[in-house]
Amino acid sequence: SFGPNIFVESQWHPFKAAIDTQLTKTWSATPIINGQVVSEFTVEGVSNTLDNHKIRAPWNHDVIAGDVRYANANIAKQAIDAAVAGQKIWQLVSASQRATILRKIADLYEKNYAELMALCQVEAGKTIQDSIDEIKEAVDFCRFYADEAERLNEVVHEITDLSGKPLRQVYKARGTFVCISPWNFPLAIYTGQIVAALAAGNTVVAKPAEQTSLIAHFGAQLMYQAGVPSEALQFVTGAGDVGGALTTANNIAGVIFTGSTQTAQRINQSLNSHVQLSGELPVFIAETGGQNAMIVDSTALPEQVVRDAVLSAFGSAGQRCSACRVLCVQEEVADGLIELLQGTMAELIVGNPAQVTTDVGPVIDKDAKKGLEAHIERMIAEPTANILAQATMSASSLVSQEQSTFVLPTAIEVKSIDVIGGEHFGPILHVLRYQARDLDKLIDAINATGFGLTLGIHSRIENIVEHIERRALVGNTYINRNQIGAIVNVQPFGGCGLSGTGPKAGGPHYVARLMQLTTEPLVS
Ligand code: NAD
Ligand code: ALA
Repeated sequence: SFGPNIFVESQWHPFKAAIDTQLTKTWSATPIINGQVVSEFTVEGVSNTLDNHKIRAPWNHDVIAGDVRYANANIAKQAIDAAVAGQKIWQLVSASQRATILRKIADLYEKNYAELMALCQVEAGKTIQDSIDEIKEAVDFCRFYADEAERLNEVVHEITDLSGKPLRQVYKARGTFVCISPWNFPLAIYTGQIVAALAAGNTVVAKPAEQTSLIAHFGAQLMYQAGVPSEALQFVTGAGDVGGALTTANNIAGVIFTGSTQTAQRINQSLNSHVQLSGELPVFIAETGGQNAMIVDSTALPEQVVRDAVLSAFGSAGQRCSACRVLCVQEEVADGLIELLQGTMAELIVGNPAQVTTDVGPVIDKDAKKGLEAHIERMIAEPTANILAQATMSASSLVSQEQSTFVLPTAIEVKSIDVIGGEHFGPILHVLRYQARDLDKLIDAINATGFGLTLGIHSRIENIVEHIERRALVGNTYINRNQIGAIVNVQPFGGCGLSGTGPKAGGPHYVARLMQLTTEPLVS
């Protein structure tokens, strides 16, 4: 198990009962414009109902989590117009009032933990531990960005112009931000984007991933309940076409995006053409994928390495951008480490995420499963690759393959990083041996992927650690530990190159990036 498991059965029991009650509910999500639920749209005087999409639990498709009414381009436009108009209201709300509202959201998230835990499980297939971490991170974002709203409000640089007249520099809101989030952190990243923009005094149009709209809709309701004015936050459901309609609107101040590198590139292109049309440069923050490595030299502690690598690769079913994808092991210790890895993988409990002992739940949907299994098949056929280990399904969780989306955690030995291709977003770990004399070549190969998100280093030689840190082009480095689970305001998170634009989420530059630093005469 991924222990130390924080649950003592007797402590867990009352929480489980509360969550189980919520698990039996059927949820719904619809666009919300200016506080009004939208389930219809009108074309040439004729009223149409928005398309309905069922969300099914990834571990058992017989379990229906709820219904999502998808927005369309027309509703996307209404949402943008409402948020742009709403800016006049939200900009009058002081930084301390904004901070109070954000802290109230955190309180409400904690109070509604049973609903949120149930939604994390039933919609996103998250294990119990992952669901707890998800809610905690969302709460941390609210409280941290509330503090940031107050801190930046006090940052005033007083200067003088050449004639000695007083000037000041202050942070101001920019306008309306479109927030587009992924399914793998359906509450944490979704909330983090929104509350950062609100903290900065901007209004928001939020479009969560289509796979996890139910928890997002519930989160939006809690935000309104906490006091976010309905004019300041517009909620839009739907898939990439709706995201495209939002990010091509010509009256937005910026886009905050987390998701795949390909989608970020598409949005970037449309924003660039938008610049050519309107002359204004929207802010674009993109946090994207990774091809993350863990480098292990011969001085590392093998048991610790295996534990950290297994958690980094297979925790959250490998569906973290930070996940370890390539375990690079110095040749001298590789055989022993692989043996330990095989033993540990044989112990993994893969199955129903609502069971407290489960280590690895399902992947998000059929498309994800198909893509990951195709990669494993490709690796089996690849003459230079070798399947080292594959975990098995827990007997108590067996559901037919057609009715669930489990991908068995798999370790594959490869001869080079190139053979892996791009990011494979699931429980697949590649293992690569390297010679000590080729350490620089290894770092070059990692850098050559173009991604630069996380890097794990396991070594007890300080010079080696420093050398790798200096040469590797990555956003977040972790030494002698796992490489997932960055904590807000402790490990500001975000990558470089194909992995993202920065500034780092949960760090001191994030909210400031969403604001405009203005210089103005000081009127006393
Ligand atoms: P995705 O790019 O498919 O979708 C992300 C969001 O973008 C969804 O809301 C989707 O509807 C929307 N979208 C899709 N096409 C769009 C378009 N043309 N215009 C506007 N919006 C569009 O990504 P995903 O599959 O939901 O998420 C997994 C990816 O996210 C992985 O690559 C992972 O590494 C990355 N990720 C990165 C971080 C980070 O902090 N760097 C965190 C989590 C996930
Ligand atoms: N912040 C998330 C992690 O570090 C993506 O795993």
